[in-house]
Parts: sequence; C-alpha cells; structure tokens
Amino acid sequence: MKHAAIIGVGSYLPNRRLTNEDLEGMVETSDEWITTRTGISERRLAEKDQATSDLATHAARNAMRDAGITPADIDLLVVGTSSPDMIFPSTACITQANLGLTCPAYDVMAACTSFIFALQNATAAIESGRARTVLVIGADALTRHVDFSDRGTCILFGDGAGAFVLQAADEPGVLGIDLGADGTGGDMLKIPAGGSAMPTTVETIEAGLHFVQMVGNDVFKFAVRVIPKTTETALAASGLSVDDVTWLVPHQANQRILDTVADRLGLPHERVVSNIALTGNTSAASIPLAVDELYTSGNLRPGDILALVGFGAGLTWGAAIVRWTKEV
Ligand code: ACO
Repeated sequence: MKHAAIIGVGSYLPNRRLTNEDLEGMVETSDEWITTRTGISERRLAEKDQATSDLATHAARNAMRDAGITPADIDLLVVGTSSPDMIFPSTACITQANLGLTCPAYDVMAACTSFIFALQNATAAIESGRARTVLVIGADALTRHVDFSDRGTCILFGDGAGAFVLQAADEPGVLGIDLGADGTGGDMLKIPAGGSAMPTTVETIEAGLHFVQMVGNDVFKFAVRVIPKTTETALAASGLSVDDVTWLVPHQANQRILDTVADRLGLPHERVVSNIALTGNTSAASIPLAVDELYTSGNLRPGDILALVGFGAGLTWGAAIVRWTKEV
C-alpha cells in the first residue's frame, strides 16, 4: 500500500483587515473584552468581489508552487468548506476551473472540521491507489454569514484559505486519522435558513435566520472535551502518544480553548500553534493556514510529528497525525 505525504503547503488571507477597534465602532464591545475572552486582535475579510473559491484558488496556487507541480499532475481536488460560493456548482468545481485542472473535484462539508474530513478523503484516495497526487483545500468566507450587529458572533470570524498537496510515497506522512460526528448537537451552532428546511424568504431575512447562530458556552465546553479525546485516539491509531507530538495544530477558535486543551493534554503551550490573534476563526482554513505559517517561519523539521485537530458545527470533530517529511 502507498502512503500519503505532504509535498506542498500554501495559504491565503485577504488584504482587508477588521480590527477590534473597528468593531468597537460597530457593536457594544471593547478591544479588552475581545482580547481577553478570545485572544483575537484582528481578522481579515474577503473583498466584496472575492468568493470562497477565490481564496481557495490563491491558497492552492501557493501550495502547487511550493510542491513544484503543474495542474496536469493533480488527480483529485477536495475542498473543505461550509461557506460555498453557491449551493451548486461546488466550490471545488469553480476552483478546479480557476486552476485549469481537469481532475474530479468535490466539496466536503463538516463546518470548521471540514479540512480534517477532506484530508481523510485525500489520504484514502492515495492509499487505495485511486490517486497519486491530491490537492486538498480548506477555505471559508464565514464573515459573509455573520450578523455584524451580534457581538456574540461577529467578533470571532475571519476569512481565508489553506491548502496541502498530498502525494503517494513509500514512507508514511499521514499516520492516522480519527473522525467523529454527533448530529444531536446540531442546534448548538447553525445557520437555520437558506437551505431546503427553510428556504430564504423576506421573513427569514427579517428574522436574521440566514446568520450564524451559536450557543458559545456550550461550544466552548464541547471543544475542550472533544479535542484531547480525538487527538489521543488518532495518536493511538498511529502508534504514538502525546509525548511524541512536536506541534499540536488545533482549529483556531478561541485562545482560551487552545490553552485549556494544552493543559488537559499536558503539552507545553509553546508546542500549541496559535495564529488566532491576527486571523480570528477562519473555519475550515484555520488548520492549513496555521501549518503554512509554521512551515514558512522555518520551525518545521523533517521527522516532526504534527497533530492537526478540528471541531465544529454538526457537531463534528477530528484529528490527523502527520509525520513531516518535507525539507524546509
Ligand atoms: N463584547 C462585550 N461583551 C460581550 C461580547 C462582546 N463581543 N459578547 C458577549 N458579551 C457579553 C455577554 O452578553 C455576557 O454578558 P452578561 O453577563 O451581561 O449576560 C458576557 O459578555 C459573557 O458572555 P459569554 O457568552 O458567557 O462569554 P464567554 O466567556 O463564553 O465568551 C465566546 C463568549 C467568546 C463566544 C466563547 O463562548 C467562545 O469562544 N465559545 C466557543 C465558540 C467557538 O469556538 N465557535 C466556533 C465553532 S467552529 C464552527 O464550526 C463555526
């Protein structure tokens, strides 16, 4: 059996910055409240003419350049997103056209865990021999679905994209993956309107049902419970333990979640990658964005063990253990 290894990484953040000071002028909040409760100082917003596929396309080009491959090399494109350009065609198909690819392309939706689910698809395609080179992207423009008069949610989210190029290799890169879902917790985090259950009407818009709704406290408790568990399960499936982890790269939702998870896993905080201060919660993009930042900072070494771990609406969660094999 072939293994899947990461041969390229790339990311993209839009230029438009929204700082905590900007938010102070929009809702009843303060830089001090946002920084202490979340660790976020600023986030990026997609330009008006940028859709999720545009963010995905930029990140993919950077990852392809890093991998040194051409569009013809790619056998499969998987995009993890919960803020697609439109209901259909898929964001993956739009991105495929932007990139000039001819391979199959599809979306995977598991909210903020979408990238880990997409990575599982990419890895399985390589391990089964159905694909040799797979482009996997996490991209979201969730600020398009946030009510900028709701201080409980509008301070959290930012837009962006990150991408990996995976290729078949003799030595394992992706060592083990654990995925989970609990649909009974769906009401904790949702966008109620705009789908088949509640098509968009004047009434749904007037009631704000097309915006993100979240029970923040419950999501927080869910996150700090599930992240250590899924990380340990994926490590066990890889024949490793927490002591082997060089870098924990969690979904960037709240700095207090990252700190609590580090303590529960017994990991020093400096081994937990955090870029939330400048990105906010970029949903499916946050994990590959953080990996790209770690990579470009020169702190990743061949042989390092990465634990990539996500959680999000659904409810969904998942962890992927990766041995870094790429030279920096
Ligand atoms: N500025 C000032 N005050 C605020 C703000 C704000 N932006 N937001 C809420 N408050 C107030 C509340 O109204 C409340 O006031 P009250 O005590 O008078 O009622 C008080 O602050 C405390 O509110 P809490 O909601 O209890 O604050 P908490 O400490 O839980 O922080 C937060 C809220 C930041 C949302 C936190 O619960 C959190 O990060 N939860 C996890 C969210 C998350 O991870 N979401 C993404 C999931 S991934 C996906 O799939 C999309």
